[in-house]
Amino acid sequence: MPERTVTVTDNHSGKSIELPVREPTLGPAAVDIGRFFRELGYFTYDPGFLSTASCHSRLTYLDGAEGKLLYRGYPIEQLAEHSNFLEVAYLMLYGELPDAEQLTSFRNIITHHTMLNEALKDFFRGFYHDAHPMAIMVGVVGSLSAFYHDSTDIGNPQHREIAAHRLIAKMPSIAAASYKHSIGEPQVYPDNRLSYTGNLLNMMFSVPCEEYHVDPVAEKALDLIFILHIDHEQNASTSTVRLAGSSGANPFACIASGIAALWGPAHGGANEAVLDMLREIGDARNIPAFLARAKDRKDPFRLMGFGHRVYKNYDPRARIIRRMCHEVLAKLGDENDPLFELALRLEEIALKDDYFIERKLYPNVDFYSGLIYRALGIPANMFTVMFAIARTVGWVAQWMEMIGEENQRIGRPRQLYTGPSTRDYVTLDRR
Ligand code: SDX
Repeated sequence: MPERTVTVTDNHSGKSIELPVREPTLGPAAVDIGRFFRELGYFTYDPGFLSTASCHSRLTYLDGAEGKLLYRGYPIEQLAEHSNFLEVAYLMLYGELPDAEQLTSFRNIITHHTMLNEALKDFFRGFYHDAHPMAIMVGVVGSLSAFYHDSTDIGNPQHREIAAHRLIAKMPSIAAASYKHSIGEPQVYPDNRLSYTGNLLNMMFSVPCEEYHVDPVAEKALDLIFILHIDHEQNASTSTVRLAGSSGANPFACIASGIAALWGPAHGGANEAVLDMLREIGDARNIPAFLARAKDRKDPFRLMGFGHRVYKNYDPRARIIRRMCHEVLAKLGDENDPLFELALRLEEIALKDDYFIERKLYPNVDFYSGLIYRALGIPANMFTVMFAIARTVGWVAQWMEMIGEENQRIGRPRQLYTGPSTRDYVTLDRR
């Protein structure tokens, strides 16, 4: 097929340029505007990147109109039904589903990197007891480069791989240690006999003075939720990781920047904000008043867990988690959880409201996930930490993809300057 091009004409100067179109495997093609400024003298302007592709990637594809999500071409629904977190992590890192031997080897590698350097214990102790676990995660993950000088040469593929393995393996240990610090309990070491999520639950909830048995329902539910959160194209936190990585920063610093970006309530912090919102609504009778606030442009209140930059249909992950809610809450004995009932009622009313229908606002991944974390006994201030554990796989996969590019360059956006024109300094006595 001949190369597609787009012609842009500057009606002011009459100059036209022909720009090449980059063809996708799926979804929209992209106009390559690399020559735009050099040949037409204009920047393109797209704050929020509504129409801008920052890179090409082979990892994750979203169809916003249809509400579809593929990891390396596999539909999220099929991976959720048949796979497990570490198998999908392998798929994201290496591009293909592992065979039995590859999966066993990968699982062993991750299992044997779960311990933290003992010196980190003092780092955790340095945080006040009521520090938000996300604040601890940002600090501790960023500090890992102080320990691992043997894997920060990002030009070395082996270093990149071991840093990726260490990050995936250690996130649950750091998360659990953050939680234990916040409740004043001793840290629990990883147990290599347990699964990835079983280990996390054990490190969070076991105590030295009694037996702890991982609940298989909780272990499976967490594994499934983690699959759903692994990656999501060029979202805010992933774009942050890519931009940090483009400067050549070490992988631990890059992932710490992703954790910081994820924390925002407009992004991964929404799962905690949904629970706060449901508690504030309290009763279905109050839903109309809150919907009115959500629709009032003068009111900063938004319906947390609703809307998405890409999905203008139901978030496929929310659909899976919503179904899981019923199963998990029933198995864990909370099937009549009033907050779940309230969430279902809120969704039902909102999806019939013209404001939400016109703007194609549907529940996103964060609307229901907090209800399951809550049923598993995970406190609200740990919800975004859970998101960060799973998304670390996507972040490191995206970082490895970017760093591995032949012509990888530092990301350096320009701006539309609207400040003062050139002016002379005025001495103090003349102001
Ligand atoms: C995640 O990017 C990703 O992929 C993110 C994520 C991932 O996996 O990485 O999917 C995870 O971050 C999910 C989103 C979690 N955030 C929330 O649930 C917070 C509530 N949602 C909104 O803040 C908002 O919907 C965003 C941030 C998610 C999307 O913002 P956009 O794309 O910039 O949309 P917008 O603000 O331009 O909204 C368009 C219109 C506006 O109204 P008008 O100006 O046209 O009148 O829709 C309205 C908005 O006011 N709107 C909402 C709303 N979301 C959008 N109104 C009320 N409640 C909402 N939740």
